[in-house]
Amino acid sequence: MSTLDELIARKSVRAYTDEPISAADERAIISAAYEAPTAGNQQLYSLVAIRDQALKERLAVLCDNQPFIAKAKLVLIFLADLSRWQDAYTAEGLDVREPGLGDVMLSVVDTAIAAQNSVVAAWSLGIGSCYIGDILENYEEFVEILDLPPYAFPAVMVVFGHPTEQQLRRTKPPRFAYDDMLGEDRYLHISGERLEAMMGAKIGVPGRDRNLQAFVDRKWNADFSIELNRSVAAWTKTLHDYYGKPGER
Ligand SMILES: Cc1cc2nc3c(=O)[nH]c(=O)nc-3n(C[C@H](O)[C@H](O)[C@H](O)COP(=O)(O)O)c2cc1C
Repeated sequence: MSTLDELIARKSVRAYTDEPISAADERAIISAAYEAPTAGNQQLYSLVAIRDQALKERLAVLCDNQPFIAKAKLVLIFLADLSRWQDAYTAEGLDVREPGLGDVMLSVVDTAIAAQNSVVAAWSLGIGSCYIGDILENYEEFVEILDLPPYAFPAVMVVFGHPTEQQLRRTKPPRFAYDDMLGEDRYLHISGERLEAMMGAKIGVPGRDRNLQAFVDRKWNADFSIELNRSVAAWTKTLHDYYGKPGER
């Protein structure tokens, strides 16, 4: 398959066969992450591979009770990590400012791009994967569990395994229409019937099977979503608490 065909065919995989991921495949998946572009080639991220089964089960609970996490053959946590450079600056006694929210955003971008490289690499090897957004929750617990230094934040988690037949047959969820996503030279404002039709692709047709309230209850207003926002606010509080005010020297 061409790269383009693979990108189109890839879908999230949440049920796995018993087949382990070989050491060579694991190395290829992780190495692919390292080949991703990063801001200033700083590679503002690092990884933790979760090996311990009891820890996988704990993660499954902490990440909004998703049992398939514990059944994955490879669990990778991608940390948005400003600590390495900060440590190097400090070790050399350099006069540097403290990291700020902009630095965190940049490191999260690096982290997500690297993770996606690993997802695409895995798919090319016949290995499925699923992102777990709930890793953004329970920040303080992950500091303990993963022994995180300041400025290393669990931004992305991806779980991997060989897809079951059922997962291979499963229809990939639809995307928004091509033109609804693309502004030309400026932001594309969408409202009214066009906005309703746009959402129809995801949550049903207005007046018939659409239930936006159910979607809001299940996602946007859900407890996990509230916790996620609290937890990420705690990341940024770390920036204030550890050395001082972000941007200050
Ligand atoms: C940042 C992010 C977080 C996600 N979190 C979860 C999750 O916690 N649990 C889950 O089952 N799927 C999760 N997904 C997978 C999405 O549900 C999935 O990508 C989306 O429905 C589109 O389907 P596809 O990946 O099969 O194309 C996440 C995806 C992303 C990119």
